[in-house]
Amino acid sequence: MIFVGSDHAGYRLKREIIKYLESRDLSFKEYGCIDGSPYDYPLAAEDACRAFLENKESFSEKSTSFVILVCGTGIGISMAANKIKGIRAALVTDAFTAEMARLHNNANCICLGERVTGVGVAISAVEKYLSTDFEGGRHERRVNQIMGLE
Ligand code: RB5
Repeated sequence: MIFVGSDHAGYRLKREIIKYLESRDLSFKEYGCIDGSPYDYPLAAEDACRAFLENKESFSEKSTSFVILVCGTGIGISMAANKIKGIRAALVTDAFTAEMARLHNNANCICLGERVTGVGVAISAVEKYLSTDFEGGRHERRVNQIMGLE
């Protein structure tokens, strides 16, 4: 299950991401802005992340549950998401940063900026994120150190 949220400034890119998920037959739930009208990004982050955390599958060994968040820059919504215990949100701008977010940081949430990243690059980032696995090993220790900071 993919939990997808945005504010108003990320609404159009969120719709494009949802179209992509539908084309891949991936299950998703939508949070935050639903019609382009003003919606505060911390609230969108909170709703999508809390739903993710309440979903038991999110914590299984090979979980296919993730959060994808969009605001104007991706900055505010990633800051908000990272305040929520259990969330490791990565601000990504392309397929490379999306791949590394999963491979090294085991990010369970990626954030994108509609005003920063074009639709094509954003979709390739989502695609790469969803098809990459956490590398584990030395990275597991570091990710545990991050979680220890909570
Ligand atoms: C909304 O205007 C904008 O501030 C928001 O989408 C985001 O970019 C904040 O970080």
